[in-house]
Amino acid sequence: MYCPLFTDSKTRQIRLSNDLAKMLCKMFYTLGLVAAMLSSISAISHDIGRSNFLLVIVDDLRPALGCYGDRRAHTPNIDRLASEGIRFEKAYAQQALCGPSRNSLLTSRRPDTLGLYDFYSYWREVAGNYTTLPEHLRNNGYTTVSLGKVFHPGASSNYSDDSPYSWSRTPFHPRTDRFKDAPVCSGQRSPPARNLICPVRVSSMPTRTLPDIEILNAAKQFLNSNREEPFFLAVGFQKPHIPLKYPKRYMRFHSLRKFVLPDKYEWPINVSHVAYNSWMDLRRRNDVKKLKLRCPWQKIPKKYARKIIRAYYSAVTYIDDLIGQLMNELEMLKIRKNTVIILTSDHGWSLGEHAEWAKYSNFEVALRVPLIISIPNLTFKSYDTRNLCLVSKAIRSQNCRTKASVDECCDDCKMIANPVELLDVFPTIAELAGFPVRSCPRKKSDSIPNLCTEGSSLIPLIEGLLRCQSSSWKNAALSQYPRSTTHPTCTASDDEPRLRDITIMGYTLRTIRYRYTAWVGFSAISKRPDWQEILAEELYDHSVDADENFNIANLDASHRVKSDLKNLLIFQLNNE
Ligand SMILES: *[C@@H]1O[C@H](CO)[C@@H](O)[C@H](O)[C@H]1NC(C)=O
Ligand SMILES: *[C@@H]1O[C@H](CO)[C@@H](O)[C@H](O)[C@H]1NC(C)=O
Ligand SMILES: *[C@@H]1O[C@H](CO)[C@@H](O)[C@H](O)[C@H]1NC(C)=O
Ligand SMILES: *[C@@H]1O[C@H](CO)[C@@H](O)[C@H](O)[C@H]1NC(C)=O
Repeated sequence: MYCPLFTDSKTRQIRLSNDLAKMLCKMFYTLGLVAAMLSSISAISHDIGRSNFLLVIVDDLRPALGCYGDRRAHTPNIDRLASEGIRFEKAYAQQALCGPSRNSLLTSRRPDTLGLYDFYSYWREVAGNYTTLPEHLRNNGYTTVSLGKVFHPGASSNYSDDSPYSWSRTPFHPRTDRFKDAPVCSGQRSPPARNLICPVRVSSMPTRTLPDIEILNAAKQFLNSNREEPFFLAVGFQKPHIPLKYPKRYMRFHSLRKFVLPDKYEWPINVSHVAYNSWMDLRRRNDVKKLKLRCPWQKIPKKYARKIIRAYYSAVTYIDDLIGQLMNELEMLKIRKNTVIILTSDHGWSLGEHAEWAKYSNFEVALRVPLIISIPNLTFKSYDTRNLCLVSKAIRSQNCRTKASVDECCDDCKMIANPVELLDVFPTIAELAGFPVRSCPRKKSDSIPNLCTEGSSLIPLIEGLLRCQSSSWKNAALSQYPRSTTHPTCTASDDEPRLRDITIMGYTLRTIRYRYTAWVGFSAISKRPDWQEILAEELYDHSVDADENFNIANLDASHRVKSDLKNLLIFQLNNE
């Protein structure tokens, strides 16, 4: 049987195998929703026409969010966004460091292609004149605007956030950025200091505001004056990056009682020290200094550690509130229905896992990021036929009995569990905008085009989910982190080695079930790994060890899995 409603972009009829979908199809048909649905059946890029894009990058945000199942979080606005979009459960940064990760995301090239593992060079000068995501949209008629931290500021974006290439106008940075590290955090019985934990009263801050509030205001202002033209607006919120400075009032959502340390608050056995990062950036803060910890191994006392975790979650609630205001502004201006929203982060953050803090590693907690994509008319509101899958899942789900709309009751069924990479964001947005980019040539050569992607558009995955069909997809997400030494030395270069000091590269592969990591010798000159020199390996089985506490790389029983993953890793590296 053919259902007249199931047609793809070329209006070719598709035979349905799913009985439930057929039933729903009939149901919709008889309900007279046909006209509305037919009008929305066409390729996604046509559906959304000249959509606007709002890319929200939240600095150092791991998925400490309600919609990611984190019960300690209070993030009603991001949760609402997730209910209006597709949530990627396994999304990974390519390197757990702001600059390299952002450059990789915005050019859709791996850190190995850009050769930028630190903050001190500009890809257009050292790697190639690669076209960025905003530049590509700008070349195709979009107004592109950068507010806050989008590119990493400084040398890695030529002290200009890649202007003039990427942006239609000068990127905005908050005036209060210069107070970023000001001693304004009041301790209980101490004068204002440069603390890690830093709840503040906004009215007593210099110029009575905070950088992220300025960024929100700039975004509102832009939206109010640019309703007509298609825009790509990139908003880079700066918290929960340290210092954990946020308006005090957000603490009330987070009683200290809620927060406990991870089950294992210790460095795991059988993991090489090369995997460790000494969280030097935390140690520089006044309050952490006061703890007089022996570097690198002495742990932050549990009592203070819990306070750090609470401060992180409070800062996330603060940003969630600003994101809610941004979404409300789109609604108020009546452009929400015309705006695709993508929310993500540059990498994760350790909150005591492995007795570690910050990013700078190859562990799941440092690499995993939230990724939510909300596409009007496709992932929420006015469901068309492709969403029958969601509708049917929602009808079957418990919550749906009491709640009215699919958006509200279908959180779980709008989740994609395949491993995806931040590299995939560029080609996804490009496809949605109607200007898809092709894949970069598989073999490295002199003639790498300036415009191409090392990722893959997520649209097939999204369409597959909406149609209840599985789609073929890459097996694994690939990330990396460089080191200058095998053992931490408690200098700044431990966590953030400069290019010339890099002697080791940790490559890590995340499949649906495993994480495999290999730390190998690396030449900073040729920027090539030496697989003859494997210094350490790690293997974690996420089906039983989601926190990566048990390295099973050296067990006999792991031999097969490990060598398969190692081969896959080397294959991927050589093929890109
Ligand atoms: C989404 O649907 C609404 C109502 O059906 C329509 O007005 C709007 O233009 C559509 N948006 C896009 C981006 O196609
Ligand atoms: C790099 O690309 C930009 C934008 O396409 C172009 O304006 C510029 O001239 C190019 N630079 C070089 C050195 O080719
Ligand atoms: C980087 O900035 C400098 C100084 O503004 C400028 O001279 C140079 O052309 C820029 N590099 C590129 C590739 O645009
Ligand atoms: C950890 O290392 C010890 C000794 O090197 C070895 O006996 C043990 O099997 C290892 N455990 C795991 C889980 O790899």
